[in-house]
Amino acid sequence: MSYFSWTSDMSVGNTLLDHDHRVLVALVNDLHTATSRGEGREVVGAILDRLFAYTQQHFQREEHHMQRVQYSKAAEHTRLHQDLLRQVLELKARFDAGHVTVAAQVSALLRDWLSLHILRDDRQFAAELAAATGSGVT
Ligand SMILES: [Fe+2]
Repeated sequence: MSYFSWTSDMSVGNTLLDHDHRVLVALVNDLHTATSRGEGREVVGAILDRLFAYTQQHFQREEHHMQRVQYSKAAEHTRLHQDLLRQVLELKARFDAGHVTVAAQVSALLRDWLSLHILRDDRQFAAELAAATGSGVT
C-alpha cells in the first residue's frame, strides 16, 4: 500500500486531467519514499523541484482549459491553485535554507490538498468542461 494512491473514485472523467493527477500522486509518493528513507538533500531536493514544476505545469494546463470554456468558477479555482503554490514555495524556501525535514510536510500537504481538490474542485470543473466540449476527453 503506497502512501498516496490514485483510485478510480478520484477520476474526474477526463483522460488528460486524470493523467496529470496520476503523475502528481506518483511524485508525492516518490517524495515520501525519499524522506522516509532518510535520503539526503540532493535526492530530496531534486524530487521537490520536479514535484513543484509539475504541479505548476498541471495548474497552467487546467487554467488554460478553464479559459477556453470560460469556466464559471475559473477565478475561484485559480485562486486555490495560487494558494497551494504559495504554501509549497514557503516550505521549499525553508528546505533550501537547510530545514531538510520540511520536505515531509510537503508530501503531507500535497496528499491532503490534492485528495480534496481533485474530488471537489476538479470534478466540478471537469463536469463543466465535458458539457462545454461535448466529451470527457479534452
Ligand atoms: Fe485544480
